[in-house]
Amino acid sequence: MNKITSLFNIKYPIIQGGMIWCSGWELASAVSNAGGLGLIGSGSMYPDVLDEHIRKCKAATDKPFGVNLPLIYPQTDDHIEVILRHGVKIVFTSAGNPMKYTSYFKKQGITVAHVIANKKFALKAVEAGVDAIVAEGFEAGGHNGIEETTTMVLVPVIREAIDIPLIAAGGIGSGQAMFAAMALGSDGVQIGSRFAASEESSAHPNFKKAIIEARDGDTKLSLKQLIPVRLIKNDFYKKVEEAEKKGASKEELSKLLGRGRARLGMFDGDLTEGELEIGQVASMIRSIKPVSEIIRDIIREFHLTTRKMCNTDFSFQ
Ligand SMILES: Cc1cc2nc3c(=O)[nH]c(=O)nc-3n(C[C@H](O)[C@H](O)[C@H](O)COP(=O)(O)O)c2cc1C
Repeated sequence: MNKITSLFNIKYPIIQGGMIWCSGWELASAVSNAGGLGLIGSGSMYPDVLDEHIRKCKAATDKPFGVNLPLIYPQTDDHIEVILRHGVKIVFTSAGNPMKYTSYFKKQGITVAHVIANKKFALKAVEAGVDAIVAEGFEAGGHNGIEETTTMVLVPVIREAIDIPLIAAGGIGSGQAMFAAMALGSDGVQIGSRFAASEESSAHPNFKKAIIEARDGDTKLSLKQLIPVRLIKNDFYKKVEEAEKKGASKEELSKLLGRGRARLGMFDGDLTEGELEIGQVASMIRSIKPVSEIIRDIIREFHLTTRKMCNTDFSFQ
């Protein structure tokens, strides 16, 4: 047992990050059944769709699972109503102000974690009363902090600043990386990209293929003026880059992004014009596997690494 396994009543301190268009009930329940904590990504769901996913997730697992609630979407209050109606006991909030909803969730008996990318927001989240912090570094897939602080630096900075349970995210796809994140002071890890390329992910097969074919340098943090997001460098990414070079305004970038760009890329499989959100760790993901295998491999690698590091033989003098 450690702080994260006991907080969420799970076997392994592995959280599957909420991911728009990728993490529905199938992925979340598979992760929970394999001993981690699955999160339904509500960011790409209308309230009635979230309702359906929670019902299906409850039917597919008797283990704890939660909902990821990005705080940037207009339907947050409706999502909260669905979460409360179903008695979901774990919520991971992200992309917004933790002050707004945390105490309300806590009064409803919900365990709350909040995703941050810098110390200022970590302290704000602690003040808001969250139970755990997810420190997400620059390597991560999806929306990201503007400061570009890497996981390697962010985790110890946040560890030094806070006492509550800490989950590291960004660039973790193996047991070795999990070991490193925990050596830096986290109590657990949140993994996104590796699970996006799992059999149970709802990502389009074209997108899953693009993930396993990506190599180092194939992703970049984009749309920094609007809301920074790490993307595979496809035609859409290049159009954004050109527009930014020409000094496009926020309004022009919003227009270029348009509506439904993320769905087009990740769910409908348009690899040219769609938005393809993935982390740098994609370059280490070589195959699409079932979740149970992914988690088993990570835990095995973690233990092998622990043993290897214990046997490291060099002198302190
Ligand atoms: C395709 C994709 C979609 C994502 N969508 C969300 C989201 O809706 N909400 C959120 O809080 N984080 C989102 N993330 C971030 C993940 O929850 C997680 O923190 C991140 O992927 C961890 O870094 P990694 O990709 O290097 O594993 C997304 C990540 C990916 C790859």
